[in-house]
Parts: sequence; C-alpha cells; structure tokens
Amino acid sequence: MTCNIFYTSKKHKNYAEEIAKKLGSRTFSMIVDNEKPYLEVNDLGLSFFHPKARAKKKFIIDFNSRSMSWRLKRADHEKLIKKALGKSEQPQKILDCTAGLLQDSLLFLSLGHEVTAVEQSNILFNLLEDGIKRSKKNEIFSRLTLVNANACSFVREAKEFDVIYFDPMFPPSKKTALRSAQIEYLAKILEHESIKNNPKEEFQLLQSMSVNKLIVKRPINASPFGEGINYQVKGKTIRFDIYI
Ligand SMILES: C[S@@+](CC[C@H](N)C(=O)[O-])C[C@H]1O[C@@H](n2cnc3c(N)ncnc32)[C@H](O)[C@@H]1O
Repeated sequence: MTCNIFYTSKKHKNYAEEIAKKLGSRTFSMIVDNEKPYLEVNDLGLSFFHPKARAKKKFIIDFNSRSMSWRLKRADHEKLIKKALGKSEQPQKILDCTAGLLQDSLLFLSLGHEVTAVEQSNILFNLLEDGIKRSKKNEIFSRLTLVNANACSFVREAKEFDVIYFDPMFPPSKKTALRSAQIEYLAKILEHESIKNNPKEEFQLLQSMSVNKLIVKRPINASPFGEGINYQVKGKTIRFDIYI
C-alpha cells in the first residue's frame, strides 16, 4: 500500500509529484487525514508520519545530524563488523541485501569499500534517496549504489560481488518495547506496505551465490539460518555468522 503525500508550500509541489509518480500515490497541499500514515515534503525534506508510532516526530533520514556521534556510538559495532569482514588488501565489492537505515552500509563505506545496498520498501527507498540528496557525505556516498528491489530478485542478475551482507529484521521479542524509534518506524513502514519476508528461505538463495563471504547478522541467541558456518563474531546482543 502506498500513502498520500502532503507538501507544505508550493515550492515543494513538483518534488512531491515526482515522488508520488514513483509510488503511485496522490499529492495534497494540506494534511487531509492524519489518522492514516502519510509522507510530507517540507523545508527539511521528505518525512514519514505514522499515527501509531511512539515517536512524536516524523521519521526523516538525516545523515548530517548524527555524523560525528554516529561513529562514536557505533564504535563497538564497527569493531565487530571489521572482524566479520576480515582484512583485505583491496576495497571489497559488498552487496548489502538489507539496506534499512544504511547504518551498516555506511560503516562499510567508511572502511573504504564499494557498496550496493538493496531496499525492498518503496517508501523507505524514497526516504533514503532524499536523505542522501541532502547529505554532505558526498565522497562516501559516491561509492554507494542504492537499489529499490527485493535482494533475492536483484542478486540473480547482479554482477560479481566479493561479500554479501544480510541483516533481516529481527523477530519481535519481549524486548520489542525497547526498540529504537527508528527501527519501530521501519517496522511500521514495512507493515504499511504489507511486506513480509521469509529470511530463512532468502538466506538459502543467498548462500547459493558464488561470493567469497556471506555475512549474516543475527540476535545473539537466535538459531542460525543454515549449516556450514565457518566462524562467528559475537557482541553482547548480536552476532555475525560468516559463511565462506
Ligand atoms: C534490520 S533492517 C537492516 C538495517 C541495516 N542493516 C542498517 O544498518 O540500517 C532490515 C531492512 O532490510 C530490508 N530487507 C529485508 N529483507 C530484504 C530483502 N530480501 N530485500 C531487500 N530488502 C530487504 C527491510 O525492508 C528493512 O528495511
């Protein structure tokens, strides 16, 4: 399902219409129904509103605001990802099958690699494109190709990659209430678009691809998607299963 797009001033009309065309949705110059999810184009960019989200603020991708704290906050995660990737003489061609908020892709990019990130959600894809357009990380994003597709369809036609990375949504748990506002919004977008995945099946297809390494992110205590793990990199709450 798509959603209405509101624009707050005439200067945003063309942009709103461009996005509406891609999403097959309609544009309005005022909010006509805030009981339903909607997209909004205003001076800050493109944002998404869901009436049932806990966060009061609309969801917007802003790669500029947390630019410094982002790497500091994720220092532990960065160590784990580095370990999972291993050392390489040359920059690697990485296929990130689960773009999401592009946080992991940004880590790969910041390590000098080339990334193709695939996002299945049309709404999230447009929010990401909008965030990248406003970003000041031009050098980093010049090594990113963002694709709007299901990774399993994309991968069949894809050119060669060194590494495939797979981080599907974690199943809801008792700790779901503690999910970050952003991850909650992400889940709400997928729910709104009626997107359901079968990560175990998707994993089997990805495992059959010929790459040097398949890295799968899982909750620390979850069972692996498949046999044949070569090694694991474990953090406090998550782990990476690595298949070579
Ligand atoms: C847990 S999030 C990924 C978070 C991401 N690694 C990050 O660092 O921001 C999962 C995301 O992957 C997307 N996704 C899951 N399975 C997918 C698939 N088979 N093809 C494309 N996108 C997929 C979901 O729509 C969601 O946005």
